[in-house]
Amino acid sequence: MINFSEQSLAQLHHQYLPAPMGAGINNKVAISLGKQIEKHYKALNVYVRVIPSEVKEDRYIFILDTLNRTKDTDVSKNVTTVQRRMKKYEYFRLDLRDMKSIKLIVAERPLTDNSLIEILEHQDFAKSKLKIPYAIGFDDNGNMCIEDIAEFPHLLLGGASNSGKSTAIMSLLMSIAFKHRTGNVNVLILDLLGKERSDFDVFNGQQFLSAPIITEPDIGRKAILLLYEEKIRRLKNRNLSYMPHIICVIDEFPRLYSGITNKEDMDKVKSAMNELLSSGRHANIHLVLAVQNPVREDVKGSIANITARIALKCAHYQISKTILGRAGAEKLVGRGQMIFDFISERDKILQGSYISHKEIKVLLAEIERTFDQQNKYPFKLNNLDTASISMELNNKDCESFQRKYVKTDKIILLEAIMWSLPQEKISNSRIQREYQIGNNRAIRVLDQMKGMGLIYELNGNLGWKVIPKCFENIPAKALNYLKENGVSESKIRAVFGENM
Ligand SMILES: Nc1ncnc2c1ncn2[C@@H]1O[C@H](COP(=O)(O)OP(=O)(O)OP(=O)(O)O)[C@@H](O)[C@H]1O
Ligand SMILES: [Mg+2]
Repeated sequence: MINFSEQSLAQLHHQYLPAPMGAGINNKVAISLGKQIEKHYKALNVYVRVIPSEVKEDRYIFILDTLNRTKDTDVSKNVTTVQRRMKKYEYFRLDLRDMKSIKLIVAERPLTDNSLIEILEHQDFAKSKLKIPYAIGFDDNGNMCIEDIAEFPHLLLGGASNSGKSTAIMSLLMSIAFKHRTGNVNVLILDLLGKERSDFDVFNGQQFLSAPIITEPDIGRKAILLLYEEKIRRLKNRNLSYMPHIICVIDEFPRLYSGITNKEDMDKVKSAMNELLSSGRHANIHLVLAVQNPVREDVKGSIANITARIALKCAHYQISKTILGRAGAEKLVGRGQMIFDFISERDKILQGSYISHKEIKVLLAEIERTFDQQNKYPFKLNNLDTASISMELNNKDCESFQRKYVKTDKIILLEAIMWSLPQEKISNSRIQREYQIGNNRAIRVLDQMKGMGLIYELNGNLGWKVIPKCFENIPAKALNYLKENGVSESKIRAVFGENM
């Protein structure tokens, strides 16, 4: 049997258009599968010729030719519908990276050719201007997804057991280790899963770690309190430019609170975590929290304002709701398939990047050899077992900091009203971006504005229409609220460009 390479096949095909169906390889199953894909696309008014190009043990590879007026984007937009209609195939990925041809990979089971190393070695990663790039994975079109951990500024990762949480954390840690070899980023890892061996032990000894992998909740609590002290110290010092970013990863983070019997200690740890979440970014401190199923109300509360979220396959739609704010992640296939939500992009379905344990070892050995500690202020936690912590929460520094940097819901609502008044339309995501807040807080702001008669929701997810067009239109309830909170009439008029 002649085995055509994909490229020669595509060339051949273009040369002899129109080609008969199955001009690629002569595999009956692949030809019939190709016909089915064509049929499903046709039902959606998308016209393609699907040419089998390769059959491997675990997958079929097709080259797709667009016909009539069908565009490449029509093919990619409809790919999930076609996959759903085909039923049996869990893996259905378009690859549009080659400008000349569209490739479609179809498999019954999820595939793992989503190499992290491919991203790390790609020039987009090398040249990336992001501060702390994280090679999350690939989208349906095979495009790499790289995001900035510094921008998140914290990340919540949720999913059932075996869904791929540790694998995703591994990719995140390897992205940092690969990119930052001069000590500008330090990492603190708490693995509280309670397993005998931590998945992250392989990192022990690496110079960018702030402490060896922590597996005991009580040592983890000390580390968190010390991290909090570091935050206060940094904020007093103010000049952050030379201080390394600190990424603190906590796998199964609710266990941080387990086994505490005394209320005072519990309050200390909770407040330290809440403070780190609300203002750690001002001190270049970022948290990455992983969890299977956050059930405790206080834990749910503390994660409510995290803006970057990754949901892997969840055991139940209610868990998806806790993690993403909506159902959907229970339908993922597992093994690293994820929904990524960030302020500007929602519902991005990705296949998480993957690196094998063997590859991690080889890469870490190389990183260790080439590591060159240039930063003079590494964040190191020595002798955690014996460290004593003299932390006083809610001390003066912390309070004045709170006033200065952390906006209360009330201040955000006032600012959001003034900001919205001169606009035609606003949206939840704009509010999140404008005030660096999470989805839940933005919903609260919108609800209150609606209650004051300032906005109404447009149909079809089109955002919110702002009602007042001038000072006189502002409903009495809203006007009173603004005045009660010290906003003068002239200030309100000024946003409409009116004079008193
Ligand atoms: N991105 C991925 N690509 C391919 N396979 C993956 C990916 N992520 C996870 N897997 C597969 O799923 C298995 C379980 O992944 P992982 O250990 O990361 O899950 P987990 O959510 O951390 O589970 P646990 O809750 O038990 O710690 C891995 O051994 C791997 O085979
Ligand atoms: Mg795990």
